[in-house]
Order: sequence, then C-alpha cells, then structure tokens
Amino acid sequence: MSRTRRAEGTDFSFLDGRLRVRTGDITRQTADVIVNAANSGLMGGGGVDGAIHRAGGPAILEECRAIRRERFPDGLPTGESVETTAGRLPARYVIHTVGPVWHGGTAGEPRLLASCYSSSLALAARLGARSIAYPAISTGVYGYPRDLAARVVWETLSGFCRENATPRMIILVFYSSDDSEVFLLATGSGG
Ligand code: APR
Repeated sequence: MSRTRRAEGTDFSFLDGRLRVRTGDITRQTADVIVNAANSGLMGGGGVDGAIHRAGGPAILEECRAIRRERFPDGLPTGESVETTAGRLPARYVIHTVGPVWHGGTAGEPRLLASCYSSSLALAARLGARSIAYPAISTGVYGYPRDLAARVVWETLSGFCRENATPRMIILVFYSSDDSEVFLLATGSGG
C-alpha cells in the first residue's frame, strides 16, 4: 500500500456547507467533538486511537477506564458511541466509537459502520456540539474497503443532515489525499 502525504488544507464542501472533506491529522482539528476509531476495550491502540490518546493525554484513558467499569464491563459494542473529555486536544469531547472489522461484507458491516456515524452524531447533538470531526472509521487496521465505506458514510451523513439541524458542521478528515480522493470518487463528488 503506498500513500502520499500532500499538503493539508484543501477543503471540499457538500450538503449546503454542513459537510467538509479535508486531508489532515484528526488530532489537529479544532471542533467541539473529535471522533475516535476505537476498539471495544477502550484502552487505546494504534492508528487514530493511539494518536488521540497520545495527543490528548492520560485524562482520556482514565475516563475510558471508568466507562468500562461502570457502564460497559464487557466492552463497548460495535457501532455504539461514548464520550469522554478531550484532554489536551482542541475539542470539548472525544466520542469513541467501535467500527466493524471487515469480514467480506456479509457480517452486517455496512449497518454497523452506519451505526458508528449515526450514534456518534446523535450523542454529539445531545452534548450540544456544533461541529464534529471524523477519521475514516474501520478503513485502517479493521480493513473496511475505502470505497465501500465512503458510500455508507455519504448515505448516513446525507440522511442525518436532512433530518437533524445539529451538529451544524461535520468534518471528514482523511489522513492522505489519496484517501480523500477515494471518498470523493466513490460518492460521485470528485474526478
Ligand atoms: N488522523 C486522521 N486519520 C488517521 C490518523 C490521524 N492521526 N491516523 C490514522 N488515520 C487513518 C488511517 O489511515 C485509516 O484511514 O484513520 C483510518 C482508520 O484507521 P485505524 O486507526 O486503523 O482505525 P480502524 O480501521 O477503525 O481500526 C481500529 O485500530 O488501533 C486500533 O485501537 C484501534 O483496535 C482499533 C483499530
């Protein structure tokens, strides 16, 4: 897999400006909520999860431990979302959600991936968030094909925006411009 990092900062805007697509590092986004592509253990990991815990500091892990103890002793189920502090990140909350592992597409992956986005958006709205930034959930270690994930994300977000007024701004942050392009092409927005 070869990926090229290019300059950050190109923004594409959809859904009357409510959806922004951007290349960059999720930990550097200023938004009320930053979403973490976690695992059900909520104890951190690699990829986005590792980057968020490193940049946000130990307060996030402390709250994750309390959530495990008090609410989810068996782990956060796939597709569900919980919030913690954002620690040192430039955000008010981190919302942790667990994406599906890709098993070929016949194990409910699209429904579970959609649920990650809809459950975190509903939670962000309850928290009064005006903006929320997402990484490309499940498309790294969990192996969800980027183009198939893009279609699920686009359908989920456009449906949500039709029916809900908040959060006002949803930012999809792709780690490489190659990933952004896959999203734009898969949703018929680019190329
Ligand atoms: N900012 C934005 N995107 C990032 C960053 C970052 N700092 N780091 C990685 N990415 C991108 C990856 O390139 C990929 O496209 O985020 C996407 C999701 O990748 P993963 O972080 O591997 O997440 P996921 O596929 O959902 O796997 C979750 O990985 O580390 C573990 O604890 C985590 O077990 C969980 C699993």
